[in-house]
Amino acid sequence: MNILHISDLHFGPRHWDGDNQLLLKKLNEYAADIVINTGDSTTDGLEDEYAEAGRFLSALKCKNVISCIGNHDKRNMRSHELFRKYIYNSETICLPETAITTKKHLFLNRKITKVNENFTDVNFIRSILIKEQTILVISIDSNELYSDDGYVEREILTAVSMEIEKTKYDKMLLMTHYSILGTDECPLKNSACLIDFVQKHNIKYVFCGHTHELELMRTNDLYHGHSFYHFMCGTLSSGNHDNDDNMFLYFENFGSDNMHLYLIRMFPEPDKIHFKEEKVF
Ligand SMILES: [Fe+2]
Repeated sequence: MNILHISDLHFGPRHWDGDNQLLLKKLNEYAADIVINTGDSTTDGLEDEYAEAGRFLSALKCKNVISCIGNHDKRNMRSHELFRKYIYNSETICLPETAITTKKHLFLNRKITKVNENFTDVNFIRSILIKEQTILVISIDSNELYSDDGYVEREILTAVSMEIEKTKYDKMLLMTHYSILGTDECPLKNSACLIDFVQKHNIKYVFCGHTHELELMRTNDLYHGHSFYHFMCGTLSSGNHDNDDNMFLYFENFGSDNMHLYLIRMFPEPDKIHFKEEKVF
């Protein structure tokens, strides 16, 4: 099984100057069974940005393109609807309005907004069969509506745990926009509960984005004896931060003893993109 990891496409004002058709051509050269897109597909969560991002993602040849929502995607009351309309339409795990929750704006006021779906989080589980192995992809919404700080709702993690316990699988991956180990200036404020979740379900692989920087880690919890890989990919196609690193990751024979990771850095030039591929392990 091979995985392509992309993140932070940022369609809208923060999008790069690179040629997206050349980028798509390159991405489609990789024999990916799953594409994992770890959020911020848009810059301001606007409908035209969502539509452009959706067109780009649907031009990927891989039939299992899975995206999670990022903080930039979640900047308006229709974010969750637009995400499902243009980026990824999955059955989401919701909570009843009677649930006691701590995440801000998790439910919109129905009387004021008149929205059909007033639950603003996008959490889902996707089961994919690849070469007789069932891969369970867990997507946790680590964003709070209107905020650039990350936050995870504990009640959601409990609901997702119950779904996982009902499901049979061979390998499990977690995707989330914010790093669960990160310490940047807009971090996931309550990352400890997501680390507990990873440990509880013995999740070995976590994919994230958000900082536009590369960080490849393997943890080793000496007390609980648990270890997981934490792959944070830089931005695929954003270009307005000094520290923006345009890149993507490709995992060959994912999860096997023969797993290899390739880092592909990109340098846009007039009429072309210079790609620099490096084998990490
Ligand atoms: Fe972000």
